[in-house]
Amino acid sequence: MEGVKFLVYHAGCPRPVPVVNSCTRVDFPQEVSGRLSLTDVTEIPEHLLKRSQARRGAEGGDAASPAAASTPATTEAAVPAVAAKKAVAVPTGPPPAKPDLPVVAAYKARKKIPVWAMVTLSILPLWAFLYVIALRPEPAVATGPIGVGTGLYSGCSGCHGAAGEGGVGYAFNNGSVVATFPHIEDQLRWVKLGSDAYKNAGVQIAGDPNRAGGPHIAGVKGVMPAQAGSLSDAQILAVVCHERYDLAGADMAGAFAEEYALWCAPDSVVYAALLDGSATFATVNTKFADKGVLEIGAVPLAGTTAG
Ligand code: HEC
Repeated sequence: MEGVKFLVYHAGCPRPVPVVNSCTRVDFPQEVSGRLSLTDVTEIPEHLLKRSQARRGAEGGDAASPAAASTPATTEAAVPAVAAKKAVAVPTGPPPAKPDLPVVAAYKARKKIPVWAMVTLSILPLWAFLYVIALRPEPAVATGPIGVGTGLYSGCSGCHGAAGEGGVGYAFNNGSVVATFPHIEDQLRWVKLGSDAYKNAGVQIAGDPNRAGGPHIAGVKGVMPAQAGSLSDAQILAVVCHERYDLAGADMAGAFAEEYALWCAPDSVVYAALLDGSATFATVNTKFADKGVLEIGAVPLAGTTAG
C-alpha cells in the first residue's frame, strides 16, 4: 500500500476526502489502519484526485490543500485536515437570533392601542378640566331673611355705616348690636318703634341693662327713626338678621344657633309666618310659644338681659 492514496468514501458525503469525510470524523485504530480492505476504502486514480483538488482550489478557501491531500493516509496526518475542514464547514452568516424571553414574546404579541383610543385618551385632561370647572359651586348667595335684609340695609347704612361700623347711629360690628340686644325680640321692637317712642314712654333701656360697656339709653346718641311706616314686620326681621349675623358676626353655629334657626335661617318658620301674615310682631310670641319666643308687642318694653 506504499505510495497509494486512500480516501474514505462515505455515503451521503458529496465527495471523497482523505481518510475522513466532512460529515463524520473517522478514526481508524492504529493497529487496523495498515490493513484496510477494499470493502472499507476505495482507491481513487491519481488524475481524478488531482482534478478534485483543483476544483476545490477553484472554489476557494478550501483548507484541504493539495499538500494535505497528498499526505499519506495516516490517522495522525489526517487530524489537522479534519480540523481545517470543520472550520470551513462552520456557516459564516450571522448567528440565528436567540428566541425571545416569554415576557418579551408576550409584549410583542399583545394588541397595540388603536389610534382612536390614543386620540380619546389625549382629550381626557381637557375633559377633567371642564369637569372640575362645572362642579365648582356657585358663589354663595344668601337666601331667606338674611339675603332680603342685605338689600334692605341700604336704608340704614347712611347712619350706621356700610359695614356696620357706625356713624350718626351706633355701630353694629364686632358683636356690638348683639351685646345691646341679647334677644332678637328686643331689637325688632326697637327698630319698629324708634328711639322717640321709648323716650316718650319713659322706657330708657331698650336692650340689655347689664350690657358690657354700659347700657344704651334711648335718645342719648340721637334719633333712631321708627321703621313701622316703611318696612313690614318681615322686612324688619330680615334687615335685623343681616345686622346680627352679617355685620355683628353672631355665631350662627354656636351661641346663636337656636335663634338663627328659628328667625334667620332660609327655612325660618317665624320669617315664613311673618311673610304670609299668619303672625305679626304683636302675635309671634303666642304663635311660637313652644319655641320660647319673647313678647315683641306694639309698645316700648324694657329690654331683657342675656340668658
Ligand atoms: C337717620 C339716621 C338713622 C337711620 C337711617 C337709621 N338709624 Fe338706627 N340709629 C340711629 C341713631 C341716632 C341711633 C341711636 C338712637 C339713640 O341714641 O337712642 C340708632 C340706633 C339703632 C339701633 C340700636 C343700636 C344699639 O346698639 O343701641 C339699632 C338696632 C338701629 N339703629 C337699627 C337701624 C336699622 C335696622 C335701620 C335701617 C332700617 C336704621 N337703624 C336706620 C340713626 C339711624
